Formats: sequence, structure tokens, C-alpha cells
Amino acid sequence: MGNARRQLRFGAALHGAGGNMASWRHPEAPSDASVNFPYYKSQALKAEEGKFDFLFIADGLYINEKSIPHFLNRFEPITILSALAAVTSRIGVVGTLSTSYSEPFTVARQFGSLDHISGGRAGWNVVTSPLEGSALNYSKAEHPNHALRYRIANEYLEVTKGLWDSWEDDAFIRDKESGVFFDPAKLHRLNHKGEFFSVQGPLNIARSRQGQPVIFQAGASEDGRSFAAKVADAIFTNGETFEEARSYYADVKRRVKEAGRDPERVLIFPGIGPIVGGTEEEAERRYREAAELVSVDNALDYLGRFFEHHDFSRYPLDEPFPELGELGRNSFRSTTDKIKREAKENGWTLRETALRVTTPRGAFIGAPEQVADRIQAWFEQGAADGFIVGPGVPGGLGDFVDEVLPILRRRGLFREEYESDTLRGHLGLPIPENRYAVERRLAERV
Ligand SMILES: Cc1cc2nc3c(=O)[nH]c(=O)nc-3n(C[C@H](O)[C@H](O)[C@H](O)COP(=O)(O)O)c2cc1C
Repeated sequence: MGNARRQLRFGAALHGAGGNMASWRHPEAPSDASVNFPYYKSQALKAEEGKFDFLFIADGLYINEKSIPHFLNRFEPITILSALAAVTSRIGVVGTLSTSYSEPFTVARQFGSLDHISGGRAGWNVVTSPLEGSALNYSKAEHPNHALRYRIANEYLEVTKGLWDSWEDDAFIRDKESGVFFDPAKLHRLNHKGEFFSVQGPLNIARSRQGQPVIFQAGASEDGRSFAAKVADAIFTNGETFEEARSYYADVKRRVKEAGRDPERVLIFPGIGPIVGGTEEEAERRYREAAELVSVDNALDYLGRFFEHHDFSRYPLDEPFPELGELGRNSFRSTTDKIKREAKENGWTLRETALRVTTPRGAFIGAPEQVADRIQAWFEQGAADGFIVGPGVPGGLGDFVDEVLPILRRRGLFREEYESDTLRGHLGLPIPENRYAVERRLAERV
């Protein structure tokens, strides 16, 4: 039983108090959740108790007065994950870091270090950064355009993956008797010279127990999907409706195959915010209570952020969503294209659009059995390999672990206990062999 059956995977998105942008006001949320280490720790331990595959931290590089409260004052991903790695023992630690505003050598070191600190549990969510204002914080004349960002990201990943192989697995001999610390034949310089980066190497940290950190990717435009198909082990995507998720899933798996890779080795994780109640009515009530904390002004600011912090308060609220031309296409392209399209197709007003975007109900609301049924349906009908679960309302992670996971376990869809202690192990992903060890093996065979 069990063993042969395809298993669900879960990530826990730790996102301040969770829920919508006004959740800090919710009676069950600590108002300082985004910088409250004991709170992060309690959520991480709850997720590990639930045998989640990994913790997941999103990020951004530019704020202003209109940003959502959680973004105004929050931890940098690698720092918080290093701290959480030290207080957990099995769960993976996955953090977001931008290829548009960093250097591959530094980032390879940071994730290499996190991978060692955590004993082989690290993952990197590769993003290209949507917000134009990020350039103002990184000494750049302008935000690289959407296509350029993905070109940079492609070369960036070649460099980081190359650097991570600087040392073969048995390079460090550390023989106190003879005084031999390492084997020079197993040390490799990358000597990369490309369009954007020039990196000699070697990296000053070895591979970890899982070989290299797991590569996640988020960004669902054409360029984003092709990039993911080429480099990612796992993908974080929006999980709004079943039809959208299924068509995205089919499209990305096709691209993975076309890129010459095994579609079963690239896992797709829609992000969802389950809202669980004892009954369907109670779940609805919990959703409404959280949604009512959001004012229309809050919602206009939240919507505006996707569109380069556009000021939506200048339009009438109860008329059709305004024509925005190209606005938003250089930032959150896949998201802004979708908002424009849906507002038009459904004839939504600005008010309706802003509130829908800010307080999504999502497909995963109801009594525990209903939420479990939906998860199973998405998983078995080609829409997901697993889910990144954010709390749909404050406290939602605990409800999910206590109420929904036991049902999925009874159905044989999710683990009772960890079978492994690395992130690759949890996700069923192979350890990538060191490229130079492969060359040596092939040469010796000839
Ligand atoms: C589901 C999802 C999650 C994302 N999470 C982040 C994030 O945490 N930080 C970030 O800077 N960008 C994030 N992005 C945006 C990407 O960085 C990207 O720059 C931008 O959206 C353009 O990519 P796309 O048009 O390919 O979606 C996310 C995008 C998607 C679709």
C-alpha cells in the first residue's frame, strides 16, 4: 500500500500573519507578525509537525507608503531561513532571491551556506523582480525590462549551478596526519565569461548532502515559463481556478519535455490560501470577517502595486475597470495581464476588481473534507503536484495541519512521517551529480 502511490507535497508560505493585507488587525494575529521571530518559529514548527516538505519565504526589494503592511517591515529571506533551519530538523527551507539585483557569486555562497547549515534542506525561489522602484535601491539607472530580466536570469543560473560544482564531493581530505586538506584535482574553476557575468570561481563552499540547493521559480509569463522549464526543479504559481491551474500545468510540463527534461522531475506548486471551518458556513464567516478588515482605499493601493504603484484613486470606483494600455507589462506581467483580461471579460468595476484582487476567496474554502476533496481533485486531475499553502486567514496553517492533513493521510495521499532528511529527498528529486565527476567517469570509461 501507500509506497507506489503518487504523494502530495506541501510548502508552508510564512507571510506575516497571512491572509489579506489587513490581517495585522485581525484579533487572532500578532500585529508585528512579519518581524516577530517567536511567531515565525511557532509557524515553522507547526509546519514541521504536519510533515510539510518545506517552508517558503517570498520577498520584494522596493516599498513605499502604499505597500502592504507586511512588506514595510519584514525579514530578509536568507537570514530568517538560517535562523529557522537551526530550530527545525527535517523541513526544507526555501527563500526568494532576485537575479536582477544580486551577484551570482554571493548568492551561490548564501544558498550554499544555508544548504550546509540546514543539513541539505535549502531551496532558492528564483525571481526576476517585478517592481521598477527596485532600481532606485540598487544604484541602477533603470529597472531592466521584462525580456532582459529573463535573459540575465538564464545566464545567472548557469553561473550559480556551475559555482556549486566547484568542489567534487570527496575533494576535502582533511588528513591531520599528512597535512593534506584537499585534493587539487577535485577543485574546479568555472572561468565563466558571458554577456552579463564574468566569474572565475571557485566558490568557497562545498556541495551539500543534497548536492545543490533545489531551484524553485516564480513567474508565469511566456518567458517565465520557458525559463522554468529549463532550470527549475519546482515551480510556484498562482492557484486561483482549477481550469487555469490545469492549463498552466499542461503547458509547463510540455515545455519541460521540449527542453529535454523529465516532466515528473519538475514539480508544480500552485499557491493556495485555504480557509477551513467546522462547517462550510463557518469557513465563509471566517473569510468575510477577514475581508471586512480591508477598506476600498487599502484595496486600491494593493491593486496599484501590481501596476508600478499606479494611483487608482483617480478613477471613479463604480465604473468599468479603466483602460491601462501597456501599464503593468514590465512588472508583474502574468498577473497584470490576467487582471485586465478578467475585469474586461466579466465587466467588473474598479471597486469590484480591487476587492477581488485584494481579498481572493480562492477555491479552497469550506469544511475540512471539502478542502481535502478539492486538493485531491487538483492533484489527481492534472493541475498540481503539490501546493504552497499560505494561511487564508490568520491561524490558517494550524487549521490545515490539524484538520485537513489527517484526511489526506487517511486517503494515502500524504506522508505520516518524513522518509528523508533533505529537501531533495522529500520532493523525490535526484541529487545532481557533480559535472566534473561526470566528466571524469565518462573519460575513465573510454
Ligand atoms: C506566483 C508568483 C509568485 C511570485 N513571487 C515573487 C516574489 O516573492 N518576489 C518577487 O520579487 N517576485 C515574485 N514574482 C514575480 C516575478 O519576480 C517576476 O519578476 C514578475 O512577475 C514577472 O514575471 P512573470 O511576468 O513571468 O510572471 C512572483 C510571480 C508569480 C507568478
